Amino acid sequence: MKINILTLFPEMFTPLTSSMLGRASDKGILEFNIVNIRDFSQDKHCKADDYPFGGGHGMVLMADPAFRALESVGAEKTRNIYMSPRGKILDMDLSEDIAREREITVFCGHYEGIDQRIIDAWDMQEVSIGDYILTGGELAAMVLIDTVSRMVPDVLPKEASAFDESIYSGLLEYPQYTQPRSYRGMDVPDILVSGNHKLIALWKFEQSLALTKVRRPDIFEQYVNKRSELSKDELKVLEKFLK
Ligand code: ADE
Repeated sequence: MKINILTLFPEMFTPLTSSMLGRASDKGILEFNIVNIRDFSQDKHCKADDYPFGGGHGMVLMADPAFRALESVGAEKTRNIYMSPRGKILDMDLSEDIAREREITVFCGHYEGIDQRIIDAWDMQEVSIGDYILTGGELAAMVLIDTVSRMVPDVLPKEASAFDESIYSGLLEYPQYTQPRSYRGMDVPDILVSGNHKLIALWKFEQSLALTKVRRPDIFEQYVNKRSELSKDELKVLEKFLK
C-alpha cells in the first residue's frame, strides 16, 4: 500500500522508519511518501497560510500550495483523507475499509484549519481520532496510518492476527502474564498454568466479559445482542453476566 502524507511538518513522521512499519516499508509492503506542503508555495517567503475571510483568530492553510502538493502525488486517483476533529470517528471498521485501498493520501492541517476548497475539490473524507483537539493533524495521521497499516497483509508477523485483538473481537482483551510465575508476591492465576486449554479459553472469555461490562457497557451490550455464535460453555459463562 502506498501512503502519501501531506504536511507542513514532515519531521513529525520520523517514527514511521522504526518498528513494524519501518520493517514493512523496508520490505516494500508499505511505501510512505512524505511531502512538505510548504515546498509548493509560490510565495517568495514560502508562505502557506493567511488570515481567514470573515475574521476569526489564527491562520488558515491556503488552497494553492495544498492543490499543487496534491497534484504532485496524483491525488485525483487516490482515496483522500483529511485529519480533522470534525470528521467521522476512526474505528476498526473504518480502518479496515481504508486498508483495502492500494493508495491513500492523508492530508494534515495545522493550527486553525484549511481552506474549505481543498476539502471540497479533492473529495476528502474527514476523519477524527477522538473528541479532543490536537495542535495539528500529524499525530492523528500517525494513529490512522498505524492502525490501517497493521491490517495490510504481511505487515504483522505471520503468528499475529490483525483481527483477533481487543475491540475487534467485540470484547476488551483479558489480562496477560509472562515469566516469572511469581513476582514480588504476586502470582499468575493458577488456571493459566494448568495446561487445560479448554478451561483456559473459558477463563479468558470470562475475564474479557467482566472487563468489558464494567469499562465499556456500550460494546458489552452490542456483544450480548449478537451472541448466537457462542458455544454452549461460552453461553453458560455469559449468562453469569446477564443477571
Ligand atoms: N486535528 C486536530 N484534532 C484532531 C483530532 N481529534 N482528530 C483528527 N485530527 C485532528
